[in-house]
Order: sequence, then structure tokens, then C-alpha cells
Amino acid sequence: MSPIPRFTMWSAHFITLIAPIVSAIEVTIPLTAPPGAAPLMGNLVSLSIEQDRWTDWAGTTEPNTFFNNVLDNFIQITNTPPFVRIGADSEDHTDFSYDVEYGEDIFPPSSTIRPYPEATNITVGQGFYNIISHLPNGTQVHWGVNFREYNLTAAYLETVALMNAFSSPAVVEKYITLKFIEIGNEADLYYHNKGRNSSWNVQEYVSEWEEFAYNVSTTANLSDCSYTKLIGAAFAESSHNNLSGFSPQAIFNLGILESPAGQLIETISQHHYSGSFCTGGGAVLQDLMTKSYIRGNISAFSPDVEATLAKGLDYILGETNSMSCHGAPNVSNTAGAALWLLDYTLYATQVGISRLHFHDGIGYKYNLIQPTTLNYSILDGSPIEPLAPHVQPAYYAAIIAAEAIGSSGATQAVEISIDEDNVAGYAFYEHGVLSKAVFINLVAYFSDAGARNSTHIDFSFTGPGYTSDNMSVKTLEIGYASDTANLTWGGQTYETSDGRVSGPLTVDVVPICSGIDLQETEAILVTFL
Ligand SMILES: *[C@@H]1O[C@H](CO)[C@@H](O)[C@H](O)[C@H]1NC(C)=O
Ligand SMILES: *[C@@H]1O[C@H](CO)[C@@H](O)[C@H](O)[C@H]1NC(C)=O
Ligand SMILES: *[C@@H]1O[C@H](CO)[C@@H](O)[C@H](O)[C@H]1NC(C)=O
Ligand SMILES: *[C@@H]1O[C@H](CO)[C@@H](O)[C@H](O)[C@H]1NC(C)=O
Ligand SMILES: *[C@@H]1O[C@H](CO)[C@@H](O)[C@H](O)[C@H]1NC(C)=O
Ligand SMILES: *[C@@H]1O[C@H](CO)[C@@H](O)[C@H](O)[C@H]1NC(C)=O
Ligand SMILES: *[C@@H]1O[C@H](CO)[C@@H](O)[C@H](O)[C@H]1NC(C)=O
Ligand SMILES: *[C@@H]1O[C@H](CO)[C@@H](O)[C@H](O)[C@H]1NC(C)=O
Ligand SMILES: *[C@@H]1O[C@H](CO)[C@@H](O)[C@H](O)[C@H]1NC(C)=O
Ligand SMILES: *[C@@H]1O[C@H](CO)[C@@H](O)[C@H](O)[C@H]1NC(C)=O
Ligand SMILES: *[C@@H]1O[C@H](CO)[C@@H](O)[C@H](O)[C@H]1NC(C)=O
Ligand SMILES: *[C@@H]1O[C@H](CO)[C@@H](O)[C@H](O)[C@H]1NC(C)=O
Repeated sequence: MSPIPRFTMWSAHFITLIAPIVSAIEVTIPLTAPPGAAPLMGNLVSLSIEQDRWTDWAGTTEPNTFFNNVLDNFIQITNTPPFVRIGADSEDHTDFSYDVEYGEDIFPPSSTIRPYPEATNITVGQGFYNIISHLPNGTQVHWGVNFREYNLTAAYLETVALMNAFSSPAVVEKYITLKFIEIGNEADLYYHNKGRNSSWNVQEYVSEWEEFAYNVSTTANLSDCSYTKLIGAAFAESSHNNLSGFSPQAIFNLGILESPAGQLIETISQHHYSGSFCTGGGAVLQDLMTKSYIRGNISAFSPDVEATLAKGLDYILGETNSMSCHGAPNVSNTAGAALWLLDYTLYATQVGISRLHFHDGIGYKYNLIQPTTLNYSILDGSPIEPLAPHVQPAYYAAIIAAEAIGSSGATQAVEISIDEDNVAGYAFYEHGVLSKAVFINLVAYFSDAGARNSTHIDFSFTGPGYTSDNMSVKTLEIGYASDTANLTWGGQTYETSDGRVSGPLTVDVVPICSGIDLQETEAILVTFL
């Protein structure tokens, strides 16, 4: 190729690069928390862990230091460890044996769609539960027992082992507590996944659940005044789909909360993914990140949340993430998915969801954390050079949420009304006083897109209170939405061998009246000083 057309191409490219479109908006932020602002706990972003490989997360003979460090990072910020749910699909494939020390798995073959498949058969011993002592001090736990196999002995022996583990000195001394026992994972799918026959329906579910929950709660000595309580529902399909008639409202109407064990339900758990990769196929990163789709996916649960809160119970997403069956390649594992997670989480608080457990397994695409060395690609299962434990982009979103919430224990948030298709914002209050704001630009910016646009945001304030003249601005810098690594948060990285933050912190202190520029595929945390 001759140099002349090359030069022409380059200069044309250069001109678009220096001429990005800047839209300008003004947002109005109340200086004191509006009535009904959502309370946010430090563990708003929590984890759900597929239990077939729980031993890899916790460590057997010694704790997994990497996993501990990346959990402790949250304690440093919010003073609260992430809540850890252990179980999921494999909780319903788990038997107990006194002859097993930790756990033994039988795995199906790895495939392109599922490079790290779930075990079909898991046999665990007492040590499997005892290693909960390896988690950080103060960790609260939600653990599932087997219901799908309709084997009361399995549920009973698992409950006995749980109670033994959580009463052991090593666990008690670290204030690690069993807050919830979950009886069965996604029981609404049991006919579909051949756990039950065609007579399976919500009436039969409630009757069998009450039978199992009676045994579990009696075995564990649960009562009105015990700390440990039961999880309700843990269903896969939202009631608005009504595929199977399973919903919180349906089980309430069938009287589950009045049954002896049902009186121990303190929280209703719902599972949700925004799409599926179970049979492969493409997912589109911009779709995942689209503001209206995020609102659609979350607000579908509003009727269930309202019905649950009306019963005086909490409502959580006990298992959630981007795309079911471990995530979609080049979507779930990307920086764009981090922005999705941040907006999805903060928006969820606005409909009354009190906590989200993001599901992680060993080698799953949508993980926040990969706690062990991987030898196969998470994208297609091909062999790779051993890849040391590391965090994935979504981890940064959890850190940003933690920093926005802080350690006051008295944080609330409201969504800021923003009339832009893909810009979202939230204001945070501590003890009722405006403290911070988060802005997220959900336009997926790719390497071939030309000039990177940005939105200029000016602030105006309403109501009683004041801010000083300045704010600090901390930015999640992302090259492209499709990046799978090399994000920085305030100039720092969490992509380190020990999972600890590294590098000099960069925050800009600027006058509030100058506003901020928010690029496509970017998040900014503003702290009002
Ligand atoms: C029932 O569960 C127990 C304990 O997990 C296990 O030993 C037994 O084999 C199971 N029974 C069946 C029929 O699967
Ligand atoms: C699981 O594996 C154990 C040990 O191999 C076996 O006894 C048991 O029958 C298997 N259970 C199921 C449900 O396949
Ligand atoms: C629970 O089930 C186990 C196994 O069938 C049985 O041994 C135990 O007595 C039951 N406990 C209660 C309280 O029903
Ligand atoms: C766990 O934390 C509690 C409360 O902060 C403290 O009293 C206790 O000593 C800690 N235990 C361990 C083993 O670190
Ligand atoms: C389904 O299983 C239940 C109990 O396991 C049994 O009572 C019922 O007859 C079965 N229904 C059908 C349609 O096979
Ligand atoms: C339940 O209470 C009984 C009777 O007080 C006691 O023997 C048993 O150890 C308790 N079990 C658990 C798991 O705390
Ligand atoms: C939901 O499904 C159940 C059982 O299939 C049915 O009885 C009920 O009418 C449905 N509800 C709605 C709102 O469609
Ligand atoms: C949920 O999000 C997906 C994209 O991730 C979108 O395709 C779907 O339409 C959304 N659902 C709703 C109800 O908005
Ligand atoms: C994912 O991205 C990588 C790197 O760009 C590419 O090689 C691969 O083909 C992509 N996989 C899919 C399923 O799109
Ligand atoms: C990868 O291989 C190493 C060395 O054999 C092993 O320790 C590790 O468990 C393997 N990773 C997984 C996820 O199986
Ligand atoms: C920037 O905005 C312009 C005008 O809306 C649009 O045509 C262009 O595609 C945008 N560029 C990117 C990278 O989004
Ligand atoms: C991250 O940055 C390093 C150093 O610039 C580079 O070698 C590596 O390829 C990047 N990784 C990804 C996934 O972009």
C-alpha cells in the first residue's frame, strides 16, 4: 500500500478521535435523604457459590489466602464481609457420608458451552462444612441442603453436619454464623429437570417442603428466638413468567408461613439471570448493559417484593448474575458486565431488594473472583497456560458499590432522575445527609467505534442542607467494553497476585460547579466534601 492513502486514512481517524460528541445534562440531587430512600447494607453485593467445588474456595488443610484477601477488601471498606451463600444446583446433588473427609465429585465432561460443568454427584463429609472456619471473621452464611432427591436422610445428615460445624470453636471464635438454611434450589424446575414427576406443582412443593423443613428445623433446634432461620422460595422463574405457578404469593396463599417450619422463614430468595447461555448462542453486551433492560429485569419482581415485604419478610436475589449456565463468552466476563452489575445492583435497591448474591463457580465466565488456578479457558474450554487466581472485571463494580455505601451502617440511596437512555445515577446519604453519588454510562464502547462520546453532568441541589464547594471524583477507567482485564479504579488495580489493591490512588478534587464528564463505558464516584 502506498503511504498516501494510509496517511489520509490516519488523518481522518485522527479527526474523529478529537471530535467526540459531548451531551450536557443537569441533574437535581436532594441534599437530605428523601422519605423512603432505600437502606443499603455493606453486604449489598454478596456471593453465591456453587458448592461442588466449595473446597477450592475455602481451602481444605489451610485457608485459600487469595479468596480471603478479596473478601477482606470489602471489610476494609464497609466493615462488613460479603454474605456467602453456598449451595445452588449442586446442593440438590449432594449426599453426606461419614466416610468422606471433605468432598468427592463426579463431573460430566467439559464442553465448549460449559468448560467447567457442575458435578452431577457430590458426596461430602464433616470437613466440607468445617472449613467454613477459613472465611473472614464475621462472615454470615446461607447454606443449602438437598431437597430434589427427596431423601430425608441426606437433608437430615447435612443439617447435623452444618450444626456441628457452626458450633465448633474455630467457627464460633471467628463470629462466623449460619444465618439461613435453604431447603432445595429452584424447586420450581424439579419437573423440568426430572427431580419430580408430572404431578409436581406448587401445592405439592409446599407440602413436601413443610415435611423436610420440619425435620431440618427440629434437627437444628430452630425457633422464634434462634439466630438461624430458613430461606423461603429460592425459585428460578419469576412469577411474572408464571411458567409453573410458583411464586412467593402462591406459597403464602397456600399457608406456608403458618406451618411450624414456615414460621421460621425470615427472607424470601429469588434467583434471576437476564438471559441464558445454556444452549450457547450469542448474547449482546450492549443488551446486557442497556438501562431500560436492566430496569425491566429488576422491576418485574416488584409485585413479589411488595407481597413479601407486606408479610414482614426480607426479599433478596439469593442467586443472580448476567446469563445463566455460567455466563456468555465475551459478555459476562467483560468490563461492560461490571457496569451492568453496578447499575443492576443499585437499581435493585430501589424496588426493595435488600441484597444480591452474585453466583460464582470455579471457572465460570461471570465470576467476580477466580479463586484457584485455571488450566482451561473459561470461554471455550481449550487448554491454557495455568492462570493464577485473579479477580474479573465485575469485582470492581462490587468495590465501587462498597465504597459508595461506606462503613457508616446508616446509608440510604435514591436513583437520580436522568433523561438519557444509557446514563444512570444514584445519590447516597449517610445519616440522612448527602455523601456521595455514582454515575454510570452504559453505552458499550468498542475498539472500532471511533470517537468516544461523553456526557457532561452539572449538579443542582434541592432541599435543606448544604455541600462545600468541592467534590472528589474517582473514575473506573475502562479501555473498551469488551476488555476482560486491565481496569483501574482511581488509578489502582485489584488484578494482583494476592488480590490486594495496588498502585497510587488518583482522585481529582474539583469544584462542584464544574460538573463531571462521564465517558461511554465508564463509572464515576463523586464524594461531596
Ligand atoms: C440418601 O442419602 C444418604 C445420605 O446422603 C445416602 O447415603 C443414601 O445413599 C441416599 N439414598 C438414596 C436412595 O439415594
Ligand atoms: C453418587 O455417588 C455415590 C458414590 O459413587 C453412589 O453411591 C451414589 O449412588 C451416587 N448417587 C447418585 C444420585 O448418583
Ligand atoms: C429426620 O429424619 C431423619 C432421617 O430420616 C430421622 O432419623 C430423624 O428422626 C428425623 N427427625 C425428625 C425430628 O423428624
Ligand atoms: C472476630 O471479631 C470479633 C469482633 O470484632 C473479635 O472480638 C474477635 O476476637 C475476632 N476473632 C478472631 C478469631 O479474630
Ligand atoms: C408422582 O410421584 C408421586 C410421589 O412420589 C406419586 O404419588 C404420584 O402418583 C406420581 N404421579 C405420577 C403422575 O406418576
Ligand atoms: C438441640 O437440643 C437438644 C436438646 O436440648 C440437644 O440435645 C441438641 O444437641 C441440640 N442440637 C443442636 C444442633 O443444637
Ligand atoms: C399462573 O399459573 C397458575 C398455574 O399454572 C394458574 O392457575 C394461574 O391462573 C396463573 N396466573 C396468571 C396470573 O396467569
Ligand atoms: C433483561 O435483559 C436482557 C438483556 O440482558 C433483555 O434481552 C431482556 O429483554 C430484559 N428483560 C426485560 C423484562 O427487560
Ligand atoms: C471472544 O473474544 C475472543 C478474543 O477477542 C475471540 O477470540 C473469541 O472468538 C470470542 N468468542 C466468542 C464466542 O465470541
Ligand atoms: C489446574 O492444575 C493445577 C496443577 O495441576 C491444579 O492444582 C488445579 O487444581 C487445576 N485447576 C482446576 C480448576 O482444576
Ligand atoms: C457518538 O455520538 C454520535 C451522535 O449521537 C453518534 O453518531 C456516534 O455513533 C457516537 N459514537 C459512539 C462511539 O458511540
Ligand atoms: C493488560 O495489559 C497488559 C500490559 O499492558 C497487556 O500485556 C495485556 O495483554 C492486557 N490484558 C488484556 C486482557 O487486555
